Amino acid sequence: MAEPKEIPLMEKIVSLCKRRGFIFQSSEIYGGINGFWDYGPLGAELKRNVKELWWNAMTRQRDDVVGLEATIIMSPLIWKASGHVDTFADLMVECPLTNKRYRADQVEPQGGIAYYYIGAIEDRAKFEESLKGGRPALAHTYEDTRPFSVLVQKGKPPESARKIALEFYSKGGFTSFPILQGERSEPVENTTKYSPDSGAQLTEARPFNLMFKTYVGPLESEENVAYLRPETAQAIFAQFKNVLETSRQKVPFGIAQIGKAFRNEVTPRNFTFRSREFEQMELEFFIKPDEAVEAISGSVATPASKNHPGEPQANWGWQLWHQYWVEERIKFYGDIGLPRTMLEEYWQKTEELAHYARATVDILFKFPFGTQELEGIAARSDFDLSQHERFSGKPMGIFDEELKAAWTQLPKEKQDELWRRYYEHRKKYLVKTGVAEEQAQKKATEDANGLAKGQYIPHVIEPSAGADRLILALICHAFCEDEAPDEKGKMEARTVLKFHPRVAPIKAAVFPLLKNKPELVAKAKAVRDLLRPHLTVFYDEAGAIGRRYRRQDEIGTPFCLTIDFDTLGEKGEELKDTVTLRDRDTMKQERVKISELLPFLLSKTR
Ligand code: GAP
Repeated sequence: MAEPKEIPLMEKIVSLCKRRGFIFQSSEIYGGINGFWDYGPLGAELKRNVKELWWNAMTRQRDDVVGLEATIIMSPLIWKASGHVDTFADLMVECPLTNKRYRADQVEPQGGIAYYYIGAIEDRAKFEESLKGGRPALAHTYEDTRPFSVLVQKGKPPESARKIALEFYSKGGFTSFPILQGERSEPVENTTKYSPDSGAQLTEARPFNLMFKTYVGPLESEENVAYLRPETAQAIFAQFKNVLETSRQKVPFGIAQIGKAFRNEVTPRNFTFRSREFEQMELEFFIKPDEAVEAISGSVATPASKNHPGEPQANWGWQLWHQYWVEERIKFYGDIGLPRTMLEEYWQKTEELAHYARATVDILFKFPFGTQELEGIAARSDFDLSQHERFSGKPMGIFDEELKAAWTQLPKEKQDELWRRYYEHRKKYLVKTGVAEEQAQKKATEDANGLAKGQYIPHVIEPSAGADRLILALICHAFCEDEAPDEKGKMEARTVLKFHPRVAPIKAAVFPLLKNKPELVAKAKAVRDLLRPHLTVFYDEAGAIGRRYRRQDEIGTPFCLTIDFDTLGEKGEELKDTVTLRDRDTMKQERVKISELLPFLLSKTR
């Protein structure tokens, strides 16, 4: 829950994002559309940097991860296999008067006086009266026996509750004039049963599927239904075999993807934090099942401490791989300016785990509106590939030469033990997904026999991050208000975005001291052109130099370069071809040779 004093901070951040062109409300000129956001010029640069840094760290800097870029709309069978068609839903309640929907777990608790009714009955007298217009008389008196209740604030008259209740019953089968039945009232505290807007009793919680539906082709029929993907992960599973066969990778290896995902969130909120269209950066890292690791390496290494376990080893089981990716991801955040102190690790409890997950760690960030999920790192077992194998009928397993060779060297008891463990694991999965016991036993036996021949379905560790959430975290963490001297040395308030130089949308701003001195302007433009092929630079000659600094501070530019008369050599040869380099955070200025600028800036920003 947000603390009151923190709300203005979020307002300042939202306002800065709009004012300086980071983030705009989508379709703003038409009143906006809830849950959709556009990135302005600086936001677009920031987002590119974030995605590029993720992509570099996760794919280009590693030998064991390759990339994928799949379509947003895929066969709807993918979403059947993944479980999204049947289970990707939030529980929702609805106000019966306004039809406004709320996520059941997000209704704010309220207190007041609850008025209960056992139903309503037609007011015959009034009805007969109304018949004077010539309508036929009722054969019997209509009655609605649905119980209903209304919450009103303490001190409010019962009429306000009655008005709401009458409105509710009038929406039923009455042709006119219901009379409320069996009113009673009592004080209640901390209840989430009532609409925060009208006080009417909310409907029972019902699942609401979060996938956006569309139709492929000209016919809007059931067989043409398709979905906008709610996660990028499933395309990776569906293309696993193609990637494996074309990339010359061997398990353990990963497939990474960055792309749009869509969820019809019931209550989008907290700026871009929960949006309906957003971008994910996901890695599916495929590993051998523990039984295969044990057969090959003799034993399975498990975590010995909570620290980064170091370079991957052949004997790692899923737990060590999971820990490795948690630590790698936290390191990544540190490298782009989100220190560990701003993050928390949350290990999901068994009852919170998704049906496919063996363990999930959420990396939380301390947002101004509360500590919330930035990324989830799940150990998904072999669930996804197994599901796609079952639903598509195409084999998703792999052949592992090393395992086949190692298996033949194992003593019989070890073979039996590993065979049994793998059999039990496969059977459990099959039964859980609805396969009949006998059939599950048969299939699990085939799978365990396959293991003995070097075949298995890889398991998966999935670090799944949201690009937009990360950008919001970076902006919130960078936002800072301090003081800086103005032109006359008087201290004034300044707003700064203290982005790490790696993520900053603009790396360096270049200023000629005066815009009406052609030599200064020409030199400044030469410096800009020198840097531009390598970095995002911004040239600015308008206004006093202090104001130009302030403008760059507010958008997070880490370095400002000023070209002055010293640069031209007017005060002697030794300062010729040097510029003033000003650091955004310390506001310190130093002279740097133009020839040294590029290596200096590259070392700070790459
Ligand atoms: N493939 C696993 C998966 O999608 P998730 O926890 O539902 O897991 C992963 O989503 C990440 O995607 C989240 O940690 C978050 O950063 C981001 N994300 C999820 N829903 C989002 C939303 N409505 N708006 C913005 N980002 C979202």
